Amino acid sequence: MANQPDAQGAAAESTDPFVMDVKKIREDARKHMSDGAVTQTYGADLKTVLQLLNDSLATEIVCVLRYKRHHFMAKGINSEAVAAEFAAHAAEEQGHADSIAERIVQLGGEPDFAPDGLKTRSHSEYKEGENLTDMIRENLIAERIAIDTYREIIRYLGDKDVTTRRLFEEILAVEEEHADDMADLLEGRE
Ligand SMILES: [Fe+2]
Ligand SMILES: [Fe+2]
Repeated sequence: MANQPDAQGAAAESTDPFVMDVKKIREDARKHMSDGAVTQTYGADLKTVLQLLNDSLATEIVCVLRYKRHHFMAKGINSEAVAAEFAAHAAEEQGHADSIAERIVQLGGEPDFAPDGLKTRSHSEYKEGENLTDMIRENLIAERIAIDTYREIIRYLGDKDVTTRRLFEEILAVEEEHADDMADLLEGRE
């Protein structure tokens, strides 16, 4: 019979009973209170996750700085609309940086805001760009780098730390919008 407990595949999965040891969960919750949100069932390697979060924090800060620079330096045809777009992106990158820093603290870590080494920690680069088209292109490249690195992080986190994964998924969706915005602006300029 396909539904026997030792059956392989989907049939076996469907018979997997939901068992939860509430007594143990309650005991563990009391024992390690100073760990805050990090409980005994935290499935990821905390050191690695904090490193990934801090590298991403650096990435977001570099993105804020690059978009800010571009916002103030945008000149030429239709530059006002583009400058406004850069400013809007800078604000959203700042929001990402804040959410990431908040998550680091939740996990018992410390957000690294040190300017020393910021460029090395960041995944994407700080490129000034010579003109408006250059700036748009540099932002598109930076967004594409952020998209790929966040996708990797999401894949790594899997089910091990769902909250951090969800945070990266939300950020990723916005970076994809940013890349799309830059690609639209670039069209017709090249
Ligand atoms: Fe961002
Ligand atoms: Fe972005």
